Amino acid sequence: MPPRSTNEIRQAYLDFFRSHGHAVVPGAPLIPENDPTVLFTTAGMHPLVPYLIGETHPAGNRLTDIQRCIRTQDIDEVGDSSHLTCFEMMGNWSLGDYFKKEAIEMSFEFLTKVLEIPKEMLAVSCFEGDSDAPKDEEAAGYWKTVGIPEDRIAFLPKKENWWGPAGQTGPCGPDTEMFYWVGNGEPHGNPAVNEDDWLEIWNDVFMQYNKKDDGTFEPLTQQNVDTGMGLERTAAVMQGVDNVYETDAMKPILERVLRMHEDVQEMVKGKLNPDTLRHARIITDHIKAAVFIIGDGITPSNVDQGYVLRRLIRRAIRSARALGIEHNGSFSPNIAETVIEQYGSFYGHLAEKKKEICDALSHEETQFGKALHEGMKQFQKTVEQAGNTIDGLAAFHLYDTYGFPIEMTQELAAENHMKVDMEGFQQAFAEHQKLSRAGAEKKFSGGLADHSAETTKLHTATHLLNAALRKVLGDHVYQKGSNITAERLRFDFSHDDKMTPDQLEHVEKLVNQAIKEDLPVVYHITTVEGAKDEGAIGVFDERYESEVKVYVIGNDKLTFSKEICGGPHVARTGMLGSFTIKKEESSSSGVRRIKAVVAGGPEEIDVAQAA
Ligand code: ALA
Repeated sequence: MPPRSTNEIRQAYLDFFRSHGHAVVPGAPLIPENDPTVLFTTAGMHPLVPYLIGETHPAGNRLTDIQRCIRTQDIDEVGDSSHLTCFEMMGNWSLGDYFKKEAIEMSFEFLTKVLEIPKEMLAVSCFEGDSDAPKDEEAAGYWKTVGIPEDRIAFLPKKENWWGPAGQTGPCGPDTEMFYWVGNGEPHGNPAVNEDDWLEIWNDVFMQYNKKDDGTFEPLTQQNVDTGMGLERTAAVMQGVDNVYETDAMKPILERVLRMHEDVQEMVKGKLNPDTLRHARIITDHIKAAVFIIGDGITPSNVDQGYVLRRLIRRAIRSARALGIEHNGSFSPNIAETVIEQYGSFYGHLAEKKKEICDALSHEETQFGKALHEGMKQFQKTVEQAGNTIDGLAAFHLYDTYGFPIEMTQELAAENHMKVDMEGFQQAFAEHQKLSRAGAEKKFSGGLADHSAETTKLHTATHLLNAALRKVLGDHVYQKGSNITAERLRFDFSHDDKMTPDQLEHVEKLVNQAIKEDLPVVYHITTVEGAKDEGAIGVFDERYESEVKVYVIGNDKLTFSKEICGGPHVARTGMLGSFTIKKEESSSSGVRRIKAVVAGGPEEIDVAQAA
């Protein structure tokens, strides 16, 4: 029997790639560490960027994992049969090891031997070629060799069949995507011919080019494979259902929503009104996303991840309202309970944090419930006064005073056959907020880690700062968060009191001494236990693999810092130039925040290597 349930599919994927020499590594949290360019982890490769560009991974050069992801750019499509903001990506990676042939053979073997999908139900797409890189006849050739007929192979342009680079420059390459037949009747054609009949389930990216500053592509020496298979879509295929919401993991959540609406019988009969179904699906996806985001440490707020979270919860509540479901503080925690029942066995941290998650949801729901009541009155007034467009200032007022996410105002407007002046809204927003919404959107629509010389220097400076704080304030100091841009580092750490000017001066001096001594920075690979035994500091949570990298800054006489970390770092502390603390402030209760900069180091740096 092939794996059918969501739990079985996850396990089968990891087992298959383990049996093909891959180390199983844990997925990362949804909040990227040290990557200010993006709000959430959006793909399995995201936490692996340093290793894809040359850092040594402690578990070796074949990896596999399950990565929880948040993607908000498809939010408007949530409610159809296949789009989600919160999904799981199964992935396997070759870090300079195997390439196209083995990747395609393994994908095909998993699809046809493990999942037992008849090859007649499959089609693939390959890169059609342009002035940057040739048509990917090589990949197509391997597909033909394993048995995919020529008429099931589509050749498509860059927009469809090219992935990366991570930033403006870096590794990228053509990809090949795998599709499952979802059309009527016998499978025919391919995604270039009858696109809507084919559902994409897996993407193998061949990172064989380096995109340079001048926009040209040069062949890479380290050729990587980065793949991503959608768990929810695969589960739908294996369970013979035509949408991701009716898979074994998601259906109980959808049913819980519909039970509140007393429409579950209609669903069983397949008679649900399309609007009801869309709202119920939105609630299912958004509350699931909210559970995962809160589970990774975020609470609703008006900035960054907290704002995305707030919008997801509020959008779900607004859909609940459209369905006539009461929302007095217990609606979203109720749904969350089912989410945790469904996902808590694989994601143990969700089960552990159940109370925290439900409390945060309840709080946000209550707050929004109050505002919604008044806000709807205001909205009605606005509608009466407006022609066919709600002006930007009015929309901003609804956002600012009543907490209406803009897409909610847009939806409400559409229901009244009206539009919202979005440009006007953006303007009003930008004027009132330091952080423009456009900036926030940009941050979570894409963009990946920047590993320039400047961020690498600041990364090493963060280790020095962490060590210096422990020397000055004591061993209760632990990293609570770290965020690095090309301009500055930001470090959150556990400490109750405001630091005194003397303490700040002392910390700054210790870091600058370490820089002056030009201490070497090297790493070694060890087990988590081994790292603990040798006194390395780290966050020691589920994110660590069994093997970790420990970065040591020091010489024979002095070990200044020893910390578990993925890297990269500069090879010697002298490359940092000088270190200045710009600000010390409260971050949250019991957590302080320092912002600091480095200056005067060389433009080109050497990267720390294995000891
Ligand atoms: N990184 C690739 C994707 O997200 C696999 O499609």
